[in-house]
Amino acid sequence: MTSSSSHKHDTTRHLLGLEGMPPDRITSLLDLAENYAQLNRSCAAPRDVLRGRTLINLFFEDSTRTRTSFELAGKRLGADIVNMSVSQSSVNKGETLLDTAATLNAMRTDLLVVRHSQSGTPTLLARKVDASVINAGDGLHEHPTQALLDGLTIRRHLGTLESLTVAICGDIAHSRVARSNIHLLTTMGSTVRLIGPPTLVPKTFKQLGVNIYHHMDEGVKGVDVIMMLRLQRERMSTGLVPSAREYFRFWGLDRKRLNLARKNALVMHPGPMNRGIEIESSVADSDQSVIQQQVEMGVAVRMAVLDVLTRNKDTP
Ligand code: NCD
Repeated sequence: MTSSSSHKHDTTRHLLGLEGMPPDRITSLLDLAENYAQLNRSCAAPRDVLRGRTLINLFFEDSTRTRTSFELAGKRLGADIVNMSVSQSSVNKGETLLDTAATLNAMRTDLLVVRHSQSGTPTLLARKVDASVINAGDGLHEHPTQALLDGLTIRRHLGTLESLTVAICGDIAHSRVARSNIHLLTTMGSTVRLIGPPTLVPKTFKQLGVNIYHHMDEGVKGVDVIMMLRLQRERMSTGLVPSAREYFRFWGLDRKRLNLARKNALVMHPGPMNRGIEIESSVADSDQSVIQQQVEMGVAVRMAVLDVLTRNKDTP
């Protein structure tokens, strides 16, 4: 295990986003996650790290893998976990977000994992509760643990997060996953290409230090990693894309396009996947795909985050 001394200067209590996070903090989180990944494989995670702590999963939006991943991560470290989804909570009875926060606070929650359809909700909650707040995806804003698990997956395969070229393709406009990954990858010294139709890749992204491509074949040429995104129709009020068939034809990842990337380039997807819409099934299941490893690294990264935030809270 990495000793706590390597994190003693990191006193941050919440994980709300990756924008502005210094590279050494990202590296130290990934190093600790790497340790947890190895311990998980040998079923040797230390269950005393979060013993006696309470973690609440507060999900105002659907989620399978992220919620389960946080639950497993907490359980492997010995925390008590409560899952609250909105359909069971008083929010449906008209209780405001801040009243919910006050209630959770009175219950002496240590860690609050929040997913919400509105950007900024975890930040607002963090100001109101004593718990450490972890953003599990807020609107179109950020999804920091997803980008950290993506970073760890890339680092395990390619040995570094520096000087790589990573293509993020598809529905960038609606993707908090894309935003968090742009922050992480550019901070670590890699080049990011955003690929998609102008309706889904707004020019304003240029300010984040990325290159924009509106032609898929050109965008994937020579890249080290191709990260595909789900077409998030539930966040689109008007039709921003033609039919699913047309979308696949122009923006889908098939074998022919994958062959334009560097040899053995990694294929990634945060899930849930729309097979046949943004990615061909055989590519998703190919040797170059690391999609299942992303899920595995998700648990390890969340263990590292829960561990570090708890230590930071104990030693301000
Ligand atoms: C993503 C999300 O919810 O932002 N999913 C995830 O957490 N793995 C991406 C998506 O919903 O497409």
